[in-house]
Amino acid sequence: MDRPRPITNAEAAAALDKAAAQVRLNLPKYTKRCQKHSSVDGVYPACGNTDWTCGFWPGEVWLAYERTGEDAFRQTGMALVDSFHRRIVKKIRVAHHDMGFLYTPSCVAAYQLTGEQKAKEAAVLAADQLIRRFQPKGEFLQAWGRMGARSNYRFIIDCLLNLPLLYWASRETGDGIYADIARRHTATCMANSFRPDGSTFHTFYMNKDGTPGHGRTCQGYKDDSFWARGQAWGVYGSILSWRDTGDPAALDTFRRALAFYLTRLPEDLVPCWDMLFQPDSGEPRDSSSAAIVACGLLEAARLLPREEGAGYEELAREMMGSLARDYAVPELKKGAGLILHGTYSKKSPYNTCFPEGVDECTSWGDYFYMEALTRLTADWTPYW
Ligand code: GLY
Repeated sequence: MDRPRPITNAEAAAALDKAAAQVRLNLPKYTKRCQKHSSVDGVYPACGNTDWTCGFWPGEVWLAYERTGEDAFRQTGMALVDSFHRRIVKKIRVAHHDMGFLYTPSCVAAYQLTGEQKAKEAAVLAADQLIRRFQPKGEFLQAWGRMGARSNYRFIIDCLLNLPLLYWASRETGDGIYADIARRHTATCMANSFRPDGSTFHTFYMNKDGTPGHGRTCQGYKDDSFWARGQAWGVYGSILSWRDTGDPAALDTFRRALAFYLTRLPEDLVPCWDMLFQPDSGEPRDSSSAAIVACGLLEAARLLPREEGAGYEELAREMMGSLARDYAVPELKKGAGLILHGTYSKKSPYNTCFPEGVDECTSWGDYFYMEALTRLTADWTPYW
């Protein structure tokens, strides 16, 4: 089989219009409520604003607003800002590190597009909440659980996407503490989450004296395997870190993480949920990883000189061609997502996750699919 044909500008525009039409159809279901992290038989249940994933649906709404200028998207985006403001003020399920996933696509986006002060206030409060999770011994943002608990004295690769909220907060408030903590966490993550071959640990424990401990998986197949989405967060997160710090180590990490990711891809460029597996294993794919990596490649193409960046754009176009042609949900339907064959958490004999969202749409897969299409069709200012 040949490599997927790169998506053209016209195909990307058509795919984005179709995505915006699906978001429009879903507005009534998820304006007062949020969208669950993954679909069930292809349809997302509505949920309260309590999951770590609730920011992706508002992100899709803002991307649809950018594409169409329609007031219905703006109104839903604003209703969701109210919900996110309430959540952070009342501290509803925010005792974890995912403040960036929650508040960047919902409130930073809203503030960027409308200047709404309530959105800015909510996002700054979320940044305040995130820096409270900084552990000076070891210099990292503790991902989950009670602060300081030995069983959770760890950070996770996903957190690289939470850091743009901190750089944003420093720019907006003039207070350097947020960026300083983000830089310290990044240094610890780059030194420990990435293995010498460019692959990644999902979670990494530090010792209580601040020295590095050991890598462990939660959602990958096993500790020393290659959880696809962790690798994708590593690729996108490291290029964002390079943009925000200028540290050459982050750019080097991006190149190494990407090189490893490419060695394990099947021909259609959409990985199995753990890159230990190839499609002939019968293991499900994780389409969201392909969408996340495409966004990282397009960010790299935007930032780097053309000699290097053009190759990244071409690769992103191939990945998006594959997703748009063979993974996009074929028919618009109320409550449906945008791309099929995502995997949230698949149980293995060796991991510790709760099994859910296997071979379904995922809310972040849909969001990053739309973000990549937006990057291909407009001169887009990132929310991250
Ligand atoms: N951040 C958790 C995940 O990617 O599933």
